[in-house]
Amino acid sequence: MSEFDYAHKNTQTGERATPTAQFNKPVISESLRKLRENAYSREIPVSDDETLNFLGTLLHAVRPQEILEIGTAVGISGTYMLEICENAHLTTIEKNDGFYAEAADNFLKFGLSSRITAIFGDAGDVLAKLDGQFDFVFLDSAKVQYVKYLPDIKRLLKSGGILVADDVLLFGYVTGEEEVPKKRKMLVKHIKEYISAVTTDKELHTTVLDIGNGVALSVKLKNT
Ligand SMILES: C[S@@+](CC[C@H](N)C(=O)[O-])C[C@H]1O[C@@H](n2cnc3c(N)ncnc32)[C@H](O)[C@@H]1O
Repeated sequence: MSEFDYAHKNTQTGERATPTAQFNKPVISESLRKLRENAYSREIPVSDDETLNFLGTLLHAVRPQEILEIGTAVGISGTYMLEICENAHLTTIEKNDGFYAEAADNFLKFGLSSRITAIFGDAGDVLAKLDGQFDFVFLDSAKVQYVKYLPDIKRLLKSGGILVADDVLLFGYVTGEEEVPKKRKMLVKHIKEYISAVTTDKELHTTVLDIGNGVALSVKLKNT
């Protein structure tokens, strides 16, 4: 079983279990669609249609200037976000050297390199040293670490900024709809800790949505 099996189970393009998935298709350029198909065929973890579409809706509304992504993979969601936000800059973090190199190549091919700071490294280490203020954060790396990253993400998020965390419902394991396989128990525990942290934090307002594999949408409250 690969490191990413949980991430791409049931995530063929356009094929999601939620009833709303049939309506929620992202608008994607032809070249990005081909890149995404290629990534799926190689079992590279990539955000599903519904999640990308949700990100797209938010991005059109918010029009962030500075985006932080944790979990680049081969650069598909990063490219998608910058295709929507024509004036934005993306900082994106990836710890897998093969994915990092492939993402850098893809960003070049899409003419986006000058608008991207791609950082190779473990997100925990990188976030601890990262400076700057971001108006949009897409958290899409190893789910067990989400709760650990939260203090740094909050520090890096502007007041009024948005934090989207992907895969927080994990095929119904987190809500209790599906029995949790033994090997996923620790992962589910950590995701529940993340959900608990963002839904009780007085500086955040959060809604957990049954979109894709579950998304936690948090807003950092103004004056915090
Ligand atoms: C679900 S994939 C990201 C998919 C990408 N956002 C997209 O939709 O195109 C998760 C990525 O996070 C990376 N990752 C996992 N743990 C990490 C860590 N501790 N630091 C940095 N990257 C990490 C993995 O190597 C993987 O490429």
